[in-house]
Amino acid sequence: DIRGVIFDLDGVLTDTAEYHYLGWQKLADEEGIPFNRVANEALRGVSRRASLMLILGNRKYSEAQIQEMMARKNRYYIELLKNITQNDLLPGAIALLDELRQAGIKTAIGSASKNARQVVDRLGIADKVDAISDGYSVDKPKPAPDLFLYAANQLGIKPAQSVVVEDAAAGIEAALAAKMWAVGLGPVERVGAAHVVLPSLAGIKWADLQAKLNDAAN
Ligand code: G6P
Ligand code: MG
Repeated sequence: DIRGVIFDLDGVLTDTAEYHYLGWQKLADEEGIPFNRVANEALRGVSRRASLMLILGNRKYSEAQIQEMMARKNRYYIELLKNITQNDLLPGAIALLDELRQAGIKTAIGSASKNARQVVDRLGIADKVDAISDGYSVDKPKPAPDLFLYAANQLGIKPAQSVVVEDAAAGIEAALAAKMWAVGLGPVERVGAAHVVLPSLAGIKWADLQAKLNDAAN
């Protein structure tokens, strides 16, 4: 039976994807590299370094230049994060976190972002989750299972007792590689590999989610 739920952050509990996009767009503009919102879709849930690599394509840069560009984008992103408040929680997020706690189900954040803690604090949900796994917790980014395994370990539960909620293809892949239950938020073209696919967390009750996961198991 399920004992814990691990939530991705960006695109699941809040929509920082727009701020990541604005940071990368500014960097790309400064470097004279073509980039836009459509190209940005490929960066969803992708680590900082892998995101930059996708933007740079086959252009050649030194490691020092790569480091500088990652740091520069992060400065732009951190500046934009100052705009985040509780109002930036996506619909259904707080209700589900509160309901899970009420039901005795453990909760964790499993985000690849090194800024996850700051975002969680600004959203005001630090005391609503039992653990935070972030971009500092493990070396291998999603789609490797490492981050979610780390989170389950923090919660003291087994992978088979864990549910992952994700909006990115790489995140669903990571959850399945960890042998956990996967709930995908968004279009099936993106998260169709998950056991259960939902448009968003809006109006989602824990009992409904459990029933859907049970159906997927049988
Ligand atoms: C999450 C986001 C990605 C972001 C990554 C690293 O996975 O969905 O868009 O690139 O975290 O975030 P960071 O804040 O460490 O650059
Ligand atoms: Mg995400």
